[in-house]
Amino acid sequence: MDKRVLWKLSYGLYAIGVSDQGRACGCIVNTVMQVTSDSPAVTVCLNKNNYTTQLLQKTGVFTVSILSEKTNPETIGALGFASGRDTHKFMDVPFRLVEGLPVVEDAVCGGMLCRVTSITDVGTHLLFVGKVVDAFAGETDAPPMTYEYYHKVVKGSAPKNAPTYRGQEEQTAPSEEPVYVCGVCGYEHQGELPEDFKCPICRQPREVFRKK
Ligand SMILES: Cc1cc2nc3c(=O)[nH]c(=O)nc-3n(C[C@H](O)[C@H](O)[C@H](O)COP(=O)(O)O)c2cc1C
Repeated sequence: MDKRVLWKLSYGLYAIGVSDQGRACGCIVNTVMQVTSDSPAVTVCLNKNNYTTQLLQKTGVFTVSILSEKTNPETIGALGFASGRDTHKFMDVPFRLVEGLPVVEDAVCGGMLCRVTSITDVGTHLLFVGKVVDAFAGETDAPPMTYEYYHKVVKGSAPKNAPTYRGQEEQTAPSEEPVYVCGVCGYEHQGELPEDFKCPICRQPREVFRKK
């Protein structure tokens, strides 16, 4: 099987919002898809180890924030690599509450409030179907961020929990210059690292970078 064929599938980038007894929680996903239109429904595929998954199984309600090309990469860094079990991930992420659930307010294209109608076990992940009960326009006209844009322009990567994870070695083309990889989020920097360098995705210092 040529797994690279799967890389031709396209995705957007989203923040899923859930509530942990009133505390804002959630994570970054690329696996939101609209599946019906008459009574609109979406799916989202979440790793069983994610805290977001655990909370969503319990509460049955979630928000989707549609990230745009103008969304700060640090928002993706804050929500896409650490777990809400250990940290308050929304601490530095601008958001508002909709029915007690966080919706990101960082140049998003729009948001939705969804109620879970079914959950399918797909092995490492659970596939949630959510009925869209409300939808609201965002604050930007910028195009929605695609997974490809995130990889190619923002130069971000995805952790192992992402269903479309490819493995570090497969994410970038070979280059003449040295490449340094962030030990936390996998961001790759081409060329030597300046003294005061910080990861543009997750804000980690240069010390956490290793040469590829
Ligand atoms: C670009 C990107 C895409 C991701 N897509 C998914 C996804 O579709 N499903 C998923 O379960 N995790 C995905 N993740 C990983 C979760 O965001 C990550 O594991 C997060 O730390 C989970 O946090 P939690 O434990 O607070 O739920 C993605 C991360 C990134 C950066």
